[in-house]
Amino acid sequence: MSSIKQKIRSWLTLPEVREIEDLDDPNTSELHRRIIRSKPFLRNIYLDNYRVLEKAMAGLGRSVCVELGSGGGFIKDILPNVITSDVLVLQNLNVCFSGEAIPFKEESVDIFFMIDVFHHIKQPRLVLNEMQRCLRPGGKILMIEPANTPWGRFIFQNFHHEQFNPDAGWCIEGDGPMSDANGAQPWIIFSRDRERFMQEYPAFSINSFRCHTPLRYLLSGGVSMRQLLPNFTYPLICLIEIILSPLNPYLGMFCTIELVKSRA
Ligand SMILES: C[S@@+](CC[C@H](N)C(=O)[O-])C[C@H]1O[C@@H](n2cnc3c(N)ncnc32)[C@H](O)[C@@H]1O
Repeated sequence: MSSIKQKIRSWLTLPEVREIEDLDDPNTSELHRRIIRSKPFLRNIYLDNYRVLEKAMAGLGRSVCVELGSGGGFIKDILPNVITSDVLVLQNLNVCFSGEAIPFKEESVDIFFMIDVFHHIKQPRLVLNEMQRCLRPGGKILMIEPANTPWGRFIFQNFHHEQFNPDAGWCIEGDGPMSDANGAQPWIIFSRDRERFMQEYPAFSINSFRCHTPLRYLLSGGVSMRQLLPNFTYPLICLIEIILSPLNPYLGMFCTIELVKSRA
């Protein structure tokens, strides 16, 4: 049985991904960049995610938006004014720094944006302190992260290589920017320990914590697996997700979290 499982897994794994030896090697992020661009489902998911930021930027006028952990994403193709960054030295990024030491002045940033980054942050208090310092009053942190719903937990704990431990503390052990993670960490800080977060960070309010998209990422195969459905079915999957949306607190695989820094 396990050999059948292994064969299916190996068939599903993209041939170029089989060669990866070190997730933390910048070449792995460069490979992800090529994969994200070449898989239509996955590319559409990124476009949908970038629209979340585009919406938040609308009406701000000239704004300073910084993407942390841009990795192999392609946000600049869609929103050229966004400042891209990562702790890894990668091609086509504006700046290289860790979120734990952000090289921007006090109250100079309008929005910090992250896709699948916060759950890789080893010392989240350091990053939250830095973002609090750099954000203008009324500024936002927007992040799209794994969701700790029953369905999300089942998928991440059984079919994903990263740790997903809802019982853990706030910090993550290890120092691999890609390899060390806890997918449940955003839920731990902003939902399970919400009261503690509010006490430690009274300047922030949690404007929204919304679970969504139970199917599309799974069917896209992500950056490691083959896409499971033909390209033309993407709108149909989105429609099915809309129909299922009342069940998002149980079925969402991702959550969008928005924090706002108070104006006072
Ligand atoms: C799972 S990848 C996501 C990349 C990209 N946002 C995307 O969605 O394709 C996580 C990214 O966060 C970056 N990262 C991890 N720790 C970081 C830190 N302390 N500061 C900045 N970036 C970090 C990693 O190098 C990696 O590029």
